[in-house]
Amino acid sequence: MEDMRARVAELRERLNAVILVHNYCTAEVQEVADFVGDSLGLAIKASETDADVIVFCGVTFMAETAKILNPDKTVLIPEPQAICSMAQMCDPEQLARVKERHPDAVVVGYVNSTADTKRLLDVCCTSSNAVDVVSGLEGREVLFVPDRNLGTYVASKCPDKYIVLWNGFCPMHNSVTVRNVLDLKERYPDAPVIAHPECRTEVLELADVIGSTEKMIGISRDTPSEDVIVLTEVGMKARLEREVPGKRFHFIDTIVCPSMKMIDLRSVVDCMENMSVEVELDDDTLREAYVPVKRMIG
Ligand code: 13P
Ligand code: SF4
Repeated sequence: MEDMRARVAELRERLNAVILVHNYCTAEVQEVADFVGDSLGLAIKASETDADVIVFCGVTFMAETAKILNPDKTVLIPEPQAICSMAQMCDPEQLARVKERHPDAVVVGYVNSTADTKRLLDVCCTSSNAVDVVSGLEGREVLFVPDRNLGTYVASKCPDKYIVLWNGFCPMHNSVTVRNVLDLKERYPDAPVIAHPECRTEVLELADVIGSTEKMIGISRDTPSEDVIVLTEVGMKARLEREVPGKRFHFIDTIVCPSMKMIDLRSVVDCMENMSVEVELDDDTLREAYVPVKRMIG
């Protein structure tokens, strides 16, 4: 393991690379990162970097977003099979047909969507800015894709908007049940419950705070409680334990994103050594998807 860490450091120097890692990656991958964060934080870092090569440890839509923001840079993904199941639930051809039925709607897309879907969006958002993005829109009708759970949450915070939902969801977050949460609350009655907005509405109703993976860090730091119940993917635990020491974090062990777990230190080394797999998007996709993504990061 130590050898591989040293090799990553050597390659980073030689390639003038930056290593961006999502909060759900394993601890060994987080430890070699230049930056670990949520989707929005990673997109912003990608837009600001002066590195020549971006090594993106996360699912493919995140690496594509980095490429859309940096068409002239090399963006590498250690594991090209690491797809986000929710992103696959919004087929661009189907979206084009639904858009025809809602000609006045502003099309807002969760960043968890493919580059082809992003071409059809007016604006992108992440879980950390979805409410701000939608509430700041001029139009009243919004077509929100693909996450029906995040869309429902946004609708509850933006009562003046008429929000048409897409029927997509994250299989992992969507599988959290009320029973799961009540069991944890029974075991840790003083612990605040922090939930990711990809969870179902009835689960979010039991949460004390709802927010992106990044927001979970600040909330955990600020709460006086030593126990914290966290309703999101288990990879988040590594970062919380590292950055908020002295607290106990209680997760649902079955909430595991298989794609995020495909990436390990070996695949990071291999991808940097072989400069593969490179994210490649055609010029039309890069140009059209840039518009909603740029609006997302401001
Ligand atoms: P965040 O933007 O909160 O990191 O969420 C991304 C994600 O895929 C959650 O499942
Ligand atoms: Fe996609 Fe769910 Fe994995 Fe997040 S946890 S990347 S929404 S499949």
